[in-house]
Amino acid sequence: MDIKIYDKLAKKYDLATKIVSFGIEELWRWMFKREIKKHIKNGVLLDVASATGEMARVLDFDKIYLVEPSSEMVKVIVEKFEKEGYKKENFEVVFQERPHIKMKKGKKEIIIIQDTAENVKLEEKADLITAFMALRNFDDLKKGIKNLDSQLKDGGYFAIVEMVKSDSLIAKPILWYMNNVVPIIAGFLVGMKEEYKLLGKSIDSLKEEEILENFKDYEIIKKQKLIFPIATMIIMRKNGKDS
Ligand SMILES: C[S@@+](CC[C@H](N)C(=O)[O-])C[C@H]1O[C@@H](n2cnc3c(N)ncnc32)[C@H](O)[C@@H]1O
Repeated sequence: MDIKIYDKLAKKYDLATKIVSFGIEELWRWMFKREIKKHIKNGVLLDVASATGEMARVLDFDKIYLVEPSSEMVKVIVEKFEKEGYKKENFEVVFQERPHIKMKKGKKEIIIIQDTAENVKLEEKADLITAFMALRNFDDLKKGIKNLDSQLKDGGYFAIVEMVKSDSLIAKPILWYMNNVVPIIAGFLVGMKEEYKLLGKSIDSLKEEEILENFKDYEIIKKQKLIFPIATMIIMRKNGKDS
């Protein structure tokens, strides 16, 4: 996905998402959190394609890696967590050339890495990877998932919410709304009509099977269509020697 679109959108992303989704996106996030917390309460979280870092704020793990390629989104994440009481430590390059920003609040630590799903490497393996409306944006889905898998512990969880192709009758008017009405609202709201048209085009481009074929070594713990069947939630556990 063209990062420039997200750079341009960054400052207004949270507000625009709330308005164009009529709050549904927040409901999905809440359902996602509730399901995740049934299986894992804390540990090392890697949230990929973090946008403004909402998933990290909502899950509130002690150690969080946020992976986001848009530099403008990274700025918004830093501002958001400063407001939550986190303090930025010295801007430091920890172990690779991509920018890392470390923020701390008591024992809680957030490390923001400006990088892609396909390239990112952490200092340690994660207990949980979250990809909330993220996979569709990867430049190379297979490569992105394979790389993320290499950053997850055996027995760790991979949790996804994604818009997927749906043949359901209810899906049709929703897709029509997203392709035709959302760009107009976004035009008024953030002056980004054409960009939202592009985003809309990618919405029903991914099939659930295309996602699942990359997770052969995982056990599906939960798979559920979220209200309005154009989004699916999948929680999986990685098989391996520790599981
Ligand atoms: C729809 S937003 C994700 C929403 C976010 N996960 C949340 O919880 O609100 C998509 C994000 O994917 C990012 N992105 C684009 N290409 C990416 C890639 N190759 N790897 C990781 N993230 C990418 C964009 O910069 C954008 O911030």
